[in-house]
Amino acid sequence: MPDTAVPFGASLGYSDVNTQDIRRVELQAVDEGRIDQLKAEAESKTYDYEIVSGIGMIPKRYLAGIARMEEFLITDMPFEDWDLQLANIDSSRVRREQTEQLRRGDLTIRTIALHRQSDTVVADSSISVPAASEAWARHGNTVVDSRHRGHRLGLLVKIANQRLLKSYRPHMKYVITGNATVNDHMIAINEAIGYRLYGKMGVFQKKHE
Ligand SMILES: CC(C)(COP(=O)(O)OP(=O)(O)OC[C@H]1O[C@@H](n2cnc3c(N)ncnc32)[C@H](O)[C@@H]1OP(=O)(O)O)[C@@H](O)C(=O)NCCC(=O)NCCS
Repeated sequence: MPDTAVPFGASLGYSDVNTQDIRRVELQAVDEGRIDQLKAEAESKTYDYEIVSGIGMIPKRYLAGIARMEEFLITDMPFEDWDLQLANIDSSRVRREQTEQLRRGDLTIRTIALHRQSDTVVADSSISVPAASEAWARHGNTVVDSRHRGHRLGLLVKIANQRLLKSYRPHMKYVITGNATVNDHMIAINEAIGYRLYGKMGVFQKKHE
């Protein structure tokens, strides 16, 4: 963070509420042999789950589950002093956001994990892919339902997305992602699949009286 950012924000009434690490993965430099190993280890813990990937519009039957996962994110991400309100996210909001994204020319690559027994979505991860650039794709949220953590589902959904992106857009150079610096669990997964620190970003918030 530049030395001037915090005093500049403070002079306008903004506090520095969250520090984000920005990481990027250089897709062609990923050690796919290492990823195969990680995937095999993770799959030994996930017999109860099915990994499902897709590009573009989300099938209707998964919309409600994905909306629930997006709500989870607001309560479960480490936000430090960032004050966010609970969101009320439903299927129609997920569909609307996706339609807007498609109109902008971006496609979403998405992988979810389904719990076989209950047929519910318990993990969700997405990458937003621009139509007209092979330079950067942007990682979206990744979240695992807290009742299903510890099965390496976060790793598996991210590996599936990364590999789908590489086969769908073989010339894409990088994916960029941001995580709270304190988010050790997500950062460990990102480092394992090839993301490396690229920069820092501050989140500033001004509260109305
Ligand atoms: C990051 C995240 C997806 C990882 O979940 P996961 O894939 O189930 O994690 P792993 O299977 O790799 O877990 C490894 C270990 O860390 C533990 N762990 C994972 N996430 C944890 C968390 N948020 N808090 C405490 N422990 C956690 C697991 O229980 C497991 O413990 P074990 O080895 O003793 O069994 C999950 O923590 C999460 O959904 N966090 C909230 C959302 C978020 O911050 N997303 C990133 C921003 S987009």
